Formats: sequence, structure tokens, C-alpha cells
Amino acid sequence: SRSINLAVIPGDGIGQEVVAQGLKVLNAVLPQDVKLETKEYDFGARRYHATGETLTDADLADLKKHDAILLGAIGDPSVPSGVLERGFLLKLRFAFDHHVNLRPSKLLPGVATPLAGQPEIDFVVVREGTEGPYTGNGGTIRQGTEHEVATEVSVNTAFGVERVVRDAFARAQARPRKKLALIHKNNVLAFAGHLWTNVFNKVAAEFPDVTTEYMHVDAATIYLVTQPERFDVIVTDNLFGDIITDLAAAVSGGIGVAASGNINPARAFPSMFEPVHGSAPDIAGQGKADPTATVLSVALLLRHLGYDAEAARVEEAVSTDLGARGTTVRSTDEIGDALAVRVAG
Ligand code: IPM
Ligand code: MN
Repeated sequence: SRSINLAVIPGDGIGQEVVAQGLKVLNAVLPQDVKLETKEYDFGARRYHATGETLTDADLADLKKHDAILLGAIGDPSVPSGVLERGFLLKLRFAFDHHVNLRPSKLLPGVATPLAGQPEIDFVVVREGTEGPYTGNGGTIRQGTEHEVATEVSVNTAFGVERVVRDAFARAQARPRKKLALIHKNNVLAFAGHLWTNVFNKVAAEFPDVTTEYMHVDAATIYLVTQPERFDVIVTDNLFGDIITDLAAAVSGGIGVAASGNINPARAFPSMFEPVHGSAPDIAGQGKADPTATVLSVALLLRHLGYDAEAARVEEAVSTDLGARGTTVRSTDEIGDALAVRVAG
């Protein structure tokens, strides 16, 4: 019989509340014969204050035993900025080789967008997740003086670029419109830009049915607002991807519905699924958080593990729920319950 061995990291703030709804929906959608085993981990601010630890080698060894990880949100104002980001989130992405950071943007019916009209938005960003300026390469000299010099080196390897570009081409090929845009800044970042463009063009030859385009990242921010319907799949580096996916979330319904997957496509390590939003300490514990982004992250998790029909049912339930929402204000729990009923029915 089939089974899913899931590591659950609720984390801080609203992470606790939204993850509970994600699990509720996951339990409701899985067929009877699939055995779901979960193990909860207490990473985040509380653990950091209690032990000074963010994520140890022993933690990584333990997490590695699972098929996938569901994460709520990590972060709290009581922890200095950067400590949990680097010590937990980025550490995990790098340790588990999450080189595909998948961030779909779909404007669902009934969801407000700040854009004029009601554009058709349905694209997915494949953000590189283990290289670029996120590698922590760089340094500073004469720190704190008027002559300080700080460098932050973007690392791009042929291996790392090719595997993410290949993944993006395959995803584009599997979608009806079969379009792929490379977003970079190759007019200025000449070395990395050359590598990305070269690899992109080389791999493109193997996917003749995929229509490609290149766009500078600054121009892309304009088109994401003025013509978001033009995008199908986007592939880009770690930092550009970080920035444009926040913009993408803003135009396609906000962070309340933005889901993401930190994926190791070969499944050498467990992939991690998380809402794009943070821990929102200002509304934590009040039942106000929208669990939709977490539930949509559960759909990505299901698809990654090969449960395509179940993933589709979750997305369908979210779409119907959003369409029927109107102006009703519901609690985190009520939204989770409604979605659980819909996926089961
Ligand atoms: C994200 C976040 C992280 C990132 C931070 C918290 C390190 O902004 O998941 O997009 O920059 O990747
Ligand atoms: Mn971000």
C-alpha cells in the first residue's frame, strides 16, 4: 500500500494556524489506502531562543528520512534579521539541493487584483534556488569605516544553470501554451548573463516546440504589470526570482494565495512546500490568517509526489471556494473546514 512520510514544520506566528489547515485538507483528499505519517518539528524562534540552534546536522539527517516537508513560516521580530533566514530556510534549501524554486501565479475567479480589467494570469516562475547571490560568497574590508568595501558574489555554474533551465523547458513543454521566458540582466551582468543565455539557447534546441523569449529583469517588471497574460513559464536566477515572484504574487491575488515549492526534482532529498507569505506576527493566534496559500502548497506537494488527481482536486476546491467567497469574513479554521469538505466531496 502507498504511504507518505511527511515532516511538518509549523514554525512561527501564523505558520501554526495555516499548517493545521493544510494538513486537514491533505487528510481529506488522500484516498483511504494511502497512509499519511507526519512528524512535527519545532524549528523557529522558540527553539532558537531556547537552544540557540536554528538547524543542526542531526536535524537535517532526521528531516532527510521524509518524503516531503510542509513548512508554515519561520521568523519573529525577537530574532535578529537574517538569523533564521540564513540559519534555517536557506540552509535547508542548500542542504537539500532545492534547485527548483517553483512559484505559480494564477489569478483565480473572485480574487482581486490591483491591475486594471481582469487579465488572464496563469504563469509559473522557476526560480533557481541554490546559486546566484544567495551563496554567501563575498566579504567586506575596512568595515564600519568610510573606506568600507563590501562585495557580494553571484555564483553561477554551468551545471546549476543547465539543470534549472532544463526543468523549466520541460515544464513549459507540458503546458498548453508551451512558452518559456528567460529573465536576466545580461546587458550589465555580462558574465553570468552570458552563461545563462548560452545555456538557455543550447537547451532550447532540444525543445523545438517551446516558444522562447529573453527579457531583462527591469523590463519584466513592467510587463508583469501591463501584460501579465504574456507569460507562461519564466526561468530566472535566485535573486531576480525572489523579487519578481513577490511582484507576481501582488498582481495575482496577493500573498494570501501564493504557494511555492522548494524542489529537488530527482528526489535525492525531500522537497519542501511553503506559502510565500511570512509568519505575520501581528495577526498570529487570532484565526485571521488565510490558509489558502498553504493549501495550494499542499497541492504542489501532492503533484510532486505523483498524486496528480488529488492535487487537481485541491486546486479545484480552492478555485471554487474563492469564487464563492464574496464578502464573507471567515476564520482560518472555517476556510480550512470548507476546503476539506470540498476535496472530500
Ligand atoms: C522567499 C524569502 C526568502 C528568500 C528569505 C526569507 C531568505 O524572501 O522565500 O522568497 O529570499 O528566498
Ligand atoms: Mn522572497
